Amino acid sequence: MDTAVYRARRDHVAAALRAAGGGVAVLATAPERPRNGDNDHPYRHDSGFYYLTGFDEPGAWLLLDADGRSLMLCRPKDPEREVWDGLRLGPEAAPSVLGVDEAQPLARLDELLPQRLADQPAVWFPFAAEGLAARVAGWLDAVRARARQGVGAPAQQRDLGVLLDEMRLLKDEHELALMRRAGELGAAAHARAMQACRPGLHEHELEAELLYAFRRGGAAGPAYVPIVASGRNACVLHHQAGAAALGLQGGSAVLKAGELCLIDAGCELGSYASDITRTFPVDGRYTPAQRTLYELVLAAQEAAIAETRPGARKMDGHWAAVRVLSAGLLDLGLLDRGVHGGVDDVIAAAAYRRFFMHGTGHWLGLDVHDAGEYLALDEPPEDQPDGQGGRCTRRPSRRLQPGMVLTVEPGLYVRAAPDVDPRWWDIGIRIEDDALVTPTGCELLSRGVPVAPDEIERLMRGG
Ligand code: GLY
Ligand code: MN
Ligand code: MN
Repeated sequence: MDTAVYRARRDHVAAALRAAGGGVAVLATAPERPRNGDNDHPYRHDSGFYYLTGFDEPGAWLLLDADGRSLMLCRPKDPEREVWDGLRLGPEAAPSVLGVDEAQPLARLDELLPQRLADQPAVWFPFAAEGLAARVAGWLDAVRARARQGVGAPAQQRDLGVLLDEMRLLKDEHELALMRRAGELGAAAHARAMQACRPGLHEHELEAELLYAFRRGGAAGPAYVPIVASGRNACVLHHQAGAAALGLQGGSAVLKAGELCLIDAGCELGSYASDITRTFPVDGRYTPAQRTLYELVLAAQEAAIAETRPGARKMDGHWAAVRVLSAGLLDLGLLDRGVHGGVDDVIAAAAYRRFFMHGTGHWLGLDVHDAGEYLALDEPPEDQPDGQGGRCTRRPSRRLQPGMVLTVEPGLYVRAAPDVDPRWWDIGIRIEDDALVTPTGCELLSRGVPVAPDEIERLMRGG
């Protein structure tokens, strides 16, 4: 393990603590989560904890002081439990393997924390971490109980989450190498599913192609529950074929010739997510109506990608996509000019939301919806569209910088309705790629699977 990467990140946190007056940072990894009976969900470490330690076992804590000294608390070696659950690193090996300065058994947490918080100006912890505030309050009480011995308790509680989230937003080279691999593997899995697709299969059978490709390629698995949605299911934003594959509610639909299939799936590789959507014809050929809407979504995505560059605001890509989609919806008659007016009116009234009701992207990294503030907190609130057809006063979205990674994912979802021409009914399309902001624009990490309709058709024909 490359311990230098994690040490550098801890040093960065320590420097930020010093700059803010000092203190001690405390964070825990994620708990194990029961699924049913005595069966747990597959274990997934906490992303912030992993970011600073590279350690993926449950039952671990990290303390970091403003001088950069780190203390890990982790599960002790236990030959009996290791027979059942696998090897544990243990505190004896943790310093040499993880590069932390000191390690202690987890059982000493409530004894050591009050000691380490004594006479510190501040305790830093992620405020959003479940149950952590109550634990910290307990340790602070224990420190205060020693006041008559001259021990001072931290006067301040500070949110470590804000600091860590800002760090995680700008990816370092170690992260980018993993994210490029996650993008490549995710894209290869999509290509595999397209090539396997044929009428008569079920949605869950295509899902199986993705899962196979992810695991075969070394991923932990999918980064989120894959969406494989054909026909009208593509208009259900979070359609899941998973439960349906077992014959439960929802239905893993049969893929039918003449329909589209939308797959939104990405892998988690080296703890980093990809998040990719492609929409392709089940029988390998887009109908004229499908191709028309597909090309409109693709044009919207291209407009958003052009705004994915340093200095542009996070929301610029969204509004560029909305403008292209709104113009297209008017041109195609999906929105009636007589009712809705021109493009600016459609945008002001958010009339496009009937067909495009989600955002155009989110930060991507250790989490599929990754950490990081979306607003420019150093700029004053301003009047702007609220995205629902009204106005609001809110800070502008922040400006993009090289090293940020975000998705670009416009879509159109046309449900059957009396005021919609039947040629558009039940067509749901989303195109989603993962973009790294570079000094000159952006690099798309997920283009190992085609996006142009002719190229998708060629791939599906076996070309
Ligand atoms: N797959 C989740 C998303 O696109 O945000
Ligand atoms: Mn996404
Ligand atoms: Mn997605």
